[in-house]
Amino acid sequence: MLSKKVEKMINDQMNFEIYSGYIYLAMGAYMDSLDLTGFANWMKVQWQEEFFHAQKMYNYLLERGGRPFLTEVPAPPKDWKSVKAAFEHALEHEQIVTGRINDIMNVAIKENDHATRSFLNWYVDEQVEEEASVDAIIKKLKLMKESGHGMYILDKELGARTFTAPAE
Ligand code: FEO
Repeated sequence: MLSKKVEKMINDQMNFEIYSGYIYLAMGAYMDSLDLTGFANWMKVQWQEEFFHAQKMYNYLLERGGRPFLTEVPAPPKDWKSVKAAFEHALEHEQIVTGRINDIMNVAIKENDHATRSFLNWYVDEQVEEEASVDAIIKKLKLMKESGHGMYILDKELGARTFTAPAE
């Protein structure tokens, strides 16, 4: 059985994961509006990943005798100054997510809730990958200074990303 505090924190995070997905879908729409369909594809796969992160929390709440509660999702931004600015926003956002996961982990440790610690380990590892993949794209964008040719190549590369739900 989850403590009320951990149940609430996981619920808040589940809703934050949905919000994260919403931001990435908005970034995808921004990139589609620029005809950068590969960049948009990358963002839309990210949107699916975030919904998977939320769904995993939903299932965990149920498994541990809790209940998922959905809240209102704030509207994401519509536009960014540039593609690089959108990815920089994505990195800042992922750093916030990492901090939030760490906060839940700290409470689970304090409460000796080993099951939640084990559950959250998946997210700790996932956040390392999430931050690294966004950072790698920012580095490429900086290197090419968002030049036409470089953008064309990177757009093709990011267009190949697909979503595969990890085993639960
Ligand atoms: Fe679910 Fe990108 O953090």
